[in-house]
Amino acid sequence: MAIDPKTILEIPTETTELDNLDIVSGKSLEVAIREMAIDDIAPVYHLGENLFTSELYPYLYRTWDEWEVIGLYNTDPEYCLVAEIDGQLGGFVLGTVITKSSWTYGYILWLGVSPDFQRLGVADKLVDKIVERMIEEGARSMLVDTDPTNTAAINFFTRKGFGNARKHIFLSMNLTEHEYFGKLIAYERDKAERSRHRRPSRFP
Ligand SMILES: CC(C)(COP(=O)(O)OP(=O)(O)OC[C@H]1O[C@@H](n2cnc3c(N)ncnc32)[C@H](O)[C@@H]1OP(=O)(O)O)[C@@H](O)C(=O)NCCC(=O)NCCS
Repeated sequence: MAIDPKTILEIPTETTELDNLDIVSGKSLEVAIREMAIDDIAPVYHLGENLFTSELYPYLYRTWDEWEVIGLYNTDPEYCLVAEIDGQLGGFVLGTVITKSSWTYGYILWLGVSPDFQRLGVADKLVDKIVERMIEEGARSMLVDTDPTNTAAINFFTRKGFGNARKHIFLSMNLTEHEYFGKLIAYERDKAERSRHRRPSRFP
């Protein structure tokens, strides 16, 4: 039977039963993929904090903060989706769409699934839903990036059909140890110190 893709895309919340069984209760889990709501912002941020740790993924750790979630919720609400499982936050995906000349890319910026629900197909459903939405917006190609040591994510995206991996190098510099910038930092620190100790004048 032919499925009209429009029909699927217009459903705001999609509930599906996961094939996997909840090992504790023996019942199958129901996962609902829906748009992120304002009350999801804090739980999504905290779940990300637990997943993007400095030990595992230092770059993801440095760039993940509450403004990332709030900002995308404001600019790209249609690409901020959550998975709700038994009334709990099971996972999230945050993305955006980039248009360059005549080409439109869907960019998955953040994806996370609670450790309680990993390897049950939750990310699979989140990514399928965001890609469907991005296609509706004109995306004909998808981008995603992650830490090169993130085997779970790399396996996941490879299995989803992503490929053509290119390495991107991040460089960093400790400014306090730099010959010139180190002096500038010391100068700014002294300046702040001096203005803190300067007594307020009683007359203008
Ligand atoms: C990557 C991540 C989103 C996958 O979510 P998930 O819901 O467990 O993924 P799914 O169940 O839909 O897909 C499972 C597939 O992903 C891959 N995968 C997931 N976890 C894996 C792991 N720990 N080791 C190896 N492969 C893994 C496998 O291909 C797996 O298929 P399989 O179970 O048949 O082997 C999840 O592990 C996660 O949240 N990781 C931390 C955050 C992160 O790294 N996000 C991506 C970068 S922003």
